[in-house]
Amino acid sequence: MNHREDGFVGVFDSGVGGISVLRALVSELPHEDFRFFGDSANAPYGEKTEGQVLDLSRGIVEGFLEDGAKAIVIACNTATSVAAAALRSAHADVPIIGIEPALKPAARALPHGMILVMATEVTLRLEKYHELVRAWGGECEVVPVPCPGLAARIERGSLDAPDVREMIEGYVGPYAGKVDGVVLGCTHYPFVRRQIAEVLGSDVSFFDGGAGTARQLRARLEEERLLAARERDGRVEFASSLDTPEELELYRSFFDLSV
Ligand code: DGL
Repeated sequence: MNHREDGFVGVFDSGVGGISVLRALVSELPHEDFRFFGDSANAPYGEKTEGQVLDLSRGIVEGFLEDGAKAIVIACNTATSVAAAALRSAHADVPIIGIEPALKPAARALPHGMILVMATEVTLRLEKYHELVRAWGGECEVVPVPCPGLAARIERGSLDAPDVREMIEGYVGPYAGKVDGVVLGCTHYPFVRRQIAEVLGSDVSFFDGGAGTARQLRARLEEERLLAARERDGRVEFASSLDTPEELELYRSFFDLSV
């Protein structure tokens, strides 16, 4: 007999970014089975319309549920801002966990600091972001830094290439020596945390939502009595809308990357 807790957790993003969240999920919940889907054929989401991001997210979640997912993690700030509420009301019986820029822990750690929030244009435009700043920004100077093109460039790998460095310098270089903290508000950006730190200096603190999302998934699975009851390590599977062996190899290499 199949028990619902034996099902897998479906995790998705526009592409490789969500793998930074997947790593936090596996480390928090090593006995769970995870299936990761990267929509690399349609990346970047951050430069699409809200309607397009909603339709793409809906299609991915429906696919996961048809395959028997017991919970979903939207490992994408952009898709969470656009689609989480609609997905939760369409599938009220399934835990759907989203991610948001980690401004709350950043503002707590640096109560009077200058904090950059690097994210996609869509994330920074939507009301959810402005609510976050009103709720948690406190006395901080919160500076939104949209980074068009950066997620798409990270999709291609070779992250120490000079063009990646130039792009990062263009976006955050003007804040070097002034900023105290950086919120990595797009799940692609933890893969270039070191490169950002090289531009801004080593005394800058970094915050991303991966660990908080993982704790939230654990809490929801506990609440719904859906935690896997197995002793063995869980399985981690990768799929992509760019379904080539090279793309899946790239996903595995991002999963193994030390960041
Ligand atoms: N990784 C996604 C995010 O967290 C989106 C990147 C993109 O596709 O633009 O916002």
